[in-house]
Amino acid sequence: MAVRDMSVEGAATPPALAMAGTKMPMPMPGNRVLRDVSQGMIHQGNRRAARPLLTLTEVLESRYEDLSDHGETVACYCEMIARRLELPHQTVEMLRLAGCLHDVGKVAVDEEILRKPGPLTDDEWKQVKRHPEVGADLLFSANLGRLASWVLAHHERPDGRGYPFGMTSEEIPLPARILAVADAYDAMTTDRVYKAAMSHAYASRELRDRAGEQFDPAVVEGLLCELDGC
Ligand SMILES: [Fe+2]
Repeated sequence: MAVRDMSVEGAATPPALAMAGTKMPMPMPGNRVLRDVSQGMIHQGNRRAARPLLTLTEVLESRYEDLSDHGETVACYCEMIARRLELPHQTVEMLRLAGCLHDVGKVAVDEEILRKPGPLTDDEWKQVKRHPEVGADLLFSANLGRLASWVLAHHERPDGRGYPFGMTSEEIPLPARILAVADAYDAMTTDRVYKAAMSHAYASRELRDRAGEQFDPAVVEGLLCELDGC
């Protein structure tokens, strides 16, 4: 948990904040959405806000490239859903960012666990289930508090059986409910170390079957209507 200690609880000033406001060159992320957002901040003269975001992105990309790729795809689905639900432009943009960074807390999970092809033990699950809180801590320390609250709740479920708090329906912020559906659809339709990719038809059925229990029904329909062109 070195990252958590360094950025959230440690006594030392986080490197991102120490560098804030300096004219040091900023390495640009490979993740397209994060690069666009960071460049936008810099062009608007907001280098101070871009620094912590870039540091978080560096951490994400240096450790798990596939997490960054997954984030970029989730960001794309989040944008489609948010536009379909006619959310304000600023929320759509924030959701793209949240999509990219929703699993940033997994930097605190052992790599062998993330890459384990078989079922996880109880202890391993315990470690994985901490990632929303670790991610929220990291985002909060990067002055992205609004995103932090969404990332914190992206594994909550309308039926109250999610984590970390067991929130129900409307208690879960809408952007977190959007993240959950976008995340699940991408997880089902891409290859993982523990399973092969499933078809769009299969994933659609799964999302609809679990609507109301695991997923917000309106969000499910929003994504499927976008993908199927209805
Ligand atoms: Fe997650």
